[in-house]
Amino acid sequence: MQRTKETLPYQQISDISLHLDSLVSLDKQYWAFKGRSRRNHCHAFISYPAMMVPEMQGELIDILKRQDPSINSIFDPFVGSGTTLGEALIRGFDFFGTDINPLAILSCEVKASPLFIDALKIKINDLKHSIQSDNSTEVDISFFGLNKWFIPRVQIGLCKLRRAIKQERQPWARRFFWLVLCDTVRKTCNSRSSTYKLHIKQEEIIENVSNPIEVFLKKLDKNLSFRVEQKQIHEKNGSLKSGRFISKVDLKLQDVNQPVASNVKQYDLMITSPPYGDNSTTVPYGQYSYLPLQWIDTEDLRAIVPKNLLKNSSSIDSAGLGGSRKDALKKAEYLLSLSPSFKETYNNISTKTKDGLKRLSSFIADLDSSLPNILSYLKGGGYMAWTLGNRNIGGVEVPLNKILRELLEAKECEFIYEINRDILGKRMPARNNASKTMTKETVLVMRKCQNE
Ligand SMILES: C[S@@+](CC[C@H](N)C(=O)[O-])C[C@H]1O[C@@H](n2cnc3c(N)ncnc32)[C@H](O)[C@@H]1O
Repeated sequence: MQRTKETLPYQQISDISLHLDSLVSLDKQYWAFKGRSRRNHCHAFISYPAMMVPEMQGELIDILKRQDPSINSIFDPFVGSGTTLGEALIRGFDFFGTDINPLAILSCEVKASPLFIDALKIKINDLKHSIQSDNSTEVDISFFGLNKWFIPRVQIGLCKLRRAIKQERQPWARRFFWLVLCDTVRKTCNSRSSTYKLHIKQEEIIENVSNPIEVFLKKLDKNLSFRVEQKQIHEKNGSLKSGRFISKVDLKLQDVNQPVASNVKQYDLMITSPPYGDNSTTVPYGQYSYLPLQWIDTEDLRAIVPKNLLKNSSSIDSAGLGGSRKDALKKAEYLLSLSPSFKETYNNISTKTKDGLKRLSSFIADLDSSLPNILSYLKGGGYMAWTLGNRNIGGVEVPLNKILRELLEAKECEFIYEINRDILGKRMPARNNASKTMTKETVLVMRKCQNE
């Protein structure tokens, strides 16, 4: 289908801008959400790197819905733990989410699975009984790095938990339990909790690692109470029918650069937060997920996970945006005339670091080539809200907000507004030079041109 550039009526752009301006004029820190954000109900099931602020995404959805009341469905191409999904469910919107990380898709599936609280309580009792009655000390799992990342008593405890979860018959309940196990694995492995990378703890700390069964049972009870809270919110909103969400939810383990069919379903609104740079030198989502993913029964992970994705701790990160630096400079050459901000950053970094230049080039080239795919899922005239951070390469700040705006404008999308906010709660790797400047982020609001 051919696309035409259709300019928004001036009134519509100025309505959004006026509304957003008025919020900031009353309170300069409005979008920092200080004291107004709490990670609760489904947003508290799992800890995932660089999660968005749920209340903020919810408010953005409401503002855009007020502007375009026909909005009833949302798409998030980099869905992560599913912050957008949780907010879409609350509003009864249909939702489509994709991510390259199987752990992200598992987290989203749990958020969107039926809220059968009474049945869940019975299943939790059964699970606790299975765990208590398992006297075996067998370690019936093997993967690369098992002995490096888990001491023997932790291996035995995690195996007991894994055996008990596998006995559960209902996939929705098993997945709920696997998510609790993911958190347990992160808390009882030998990797430091201060970084998302796999980085071995000091020996004396390893000896004192907590008992995985105790950690699991504590988190299980917490997640049950978050589930109850989730149900209360949805009952109040009328977004549930017989314990199931009224929203239709579709989740796919998918690389945004995978070719997209020409007749895909289109969604009314796109809300997302893409990576800020190549995963391995910004936020290593894959490394963070590697150990938890080894313990989950792969049959319970969404769709078929390609074997190479779980091969080693860097496989997911290498498959993500900017993960391959092969021919990076050549691949990105065309961007120099497409985006003046990319060109300026490229020139500044070229005097500092050759490797950094490759990292910048491969990431932006991958991001640009994913845009036509992403736009094909958005209806003509649909709004987009991109939450973005500007990383550093070789001491040079990469203005991702400006670069992405220029790349989208080159695809006939229209700029609507930019929100600049201080990051208060988002957990970013503070000691990582690449993310030193990530105390601020931008929300770029754009709109796709109308389909002809
Ligand atoms: C900033 S995180 C999203 C966090 C999410 N907004 C949340 O609140 O949890 C970016 C996500 O992009 C995913 N990602 C990276 N490269 C990708 C690719 N090529 N295709 C699909 N997803 C990708 C990562 O796995 C990660 O989950």
